[in-house]
Amino acid sequence: MLGLYGAAARLGDVATVRFLWVDTFVVSHPDLIKHILQDNNRNFVRNAFLVDTLRPINGLNLFTADGDSWLSRRRLMQPAFHRQRIAAFGPVITACAADMLTRWEAGRTLSIEQEMMKVTLQVAGRALFSRDLLGDSDALGDAFGTISTYVNYRFRTPFPPPGWFPSRQNRALRAAMAVHDRVIFALIRERRALVEQPADLLGMLIEARDADTGLGLTDDELRREISVMMFAGHETTAVTLTWALYLLSQHPEARGRLEAEVERVLSGRVPTIDDLPSLGYTRRVIDETLRLYPPAWGIARQSVAADTLGGFTLPPGSGLTLFTYGIQRDPRFWPDPERFDPDRFLPDQAEARPSYAYLPFGGGPRLCIGNALALTEATLILAMIAQRFRLTLTPGHPVQPQPIFTLHTSHGLPMRVEPRVAPAG
Ligand code: HEM
Repeated sequence: MLGLYGAAARLGDVATVRFLWVDTFVVSHPDLIKHILQDNNRNFVRNAFLVDTLRPINGLNLFTADGDSWLSRRRLMQPAFHRQRIAAFGPVITACAADMLTRWEAGRTLSIEQEMMKVTLQVAGRALFSRDLLGDSDALGDAFGTISTYVNYRFRTPFPPPGWFPSRQNRALRAAMAVHDRVIFALIRERRALVEQPADLLGMLIEARDADTGLGLTDDELRREISVMMFAGHETTAVTLTWALYLLSQHPEARGRLEAEVERVLSGRVPTIDDLPSLGYTRRVIDETLRLYPPAWGIARQSVAADTLGGFTLPPGSGLTLFTYGIQRDPRFWPDPERFDPDRFLPDQAEARPSYAYLPFGGGPRLCIGNALALTEATLILAMIAQRFRLTLTPGHPVQPQPIFTLHTSHGLPMRVEPRVAPAG
């Protein structure tokens, strides 16, 4: 898939890829992306294939909605993602990371992608609705796992059997959805009965009111929004951390700088949100990882009315892929683009680039609502791993990007964990 879009991108800033009988315009220039995501964003809506794939799971929600229905949701939910609110999740994140690190045994080889999936699932469960989804018996945690597997299967399978057909995947999805709906509805009902809401995202969303109508979200709307946050937030952050640990294992000098920074800033203690401004290099490692391996490797849109783009006429209803992976490796905007160099994100270098040459979180009004939470989470977890462990890739293990719904490692990431500081005594 990346190769296909990459080949199209080499043909020009707008190129068409034909998949069976459907043409998609592959867009690979920051100015054209700005036109789509920002300047003329009302003419570019969610892509029908994406919405159809996600509809059986989350129905209409902030991610799948368009137009006024999207705008009213976004206005209602935006305050819950304010930086100050996100700051309250710092202790949740560091507690989950600490749990993971106590499970790690020195000298063992672990599947790092799975470890990162577990820790971000645990953070998502606690930050969204104060529930631990990691317990062996947590039915909701298992249901989320099954639903994620289904979404990835759908993105790999262009012509799946219809939803009513009792295929193995459809039956597994139906069973997981039944658990998912039952548990989340019960949680919402319990919460509505409370006088004071806990300081998690569900609590914030239950209390949120539309500024014009004064109305809040219904139970079903809450279920869909909570569910989409789980999916949009947990796997993306997990693959970011996975790729960061891979890149660090391949670049000892960068790893040394990261370790020196966490030692200098933290002197062995658990980081807090207040440490983030001093963990500049750690954050730049995350930024550079998101450049080389953007979890959302392409952004899909569909035009409403006809438009022109880089000399091309787009008929109404045209499918478009904004090729994030390609733009973020384009030598016109990124000197020596294949090189891992976190210092590209020092302020003076970042300011010299066109803003839409870097879009791991999209852009314009539909910029990822969870971006501050994701960056906080990834930076704190990476700092805590670097404090305690050094990870080495199993020699000879192949590592290639595999674009499914998000950008995974093709064969997982087995890494050996070694303690950085010899235990005392
Ligand atoms: C590294 C982690 C993440 C990455 C790379 C990422 C990436 C993105 C991208 C590229 C978009 C824009 C999609 C488009 O325009 O078509 C997006 C939207 C969205 N993201 Fe994230 N995301 C991450 C984490 C999160 C988290 C933690 C949450 C919530 C807890 C979240 C919730 C959402 C939602 C709800 C939208 C839709 C926003 C809208 O359309 O108004 N994401 N994300």
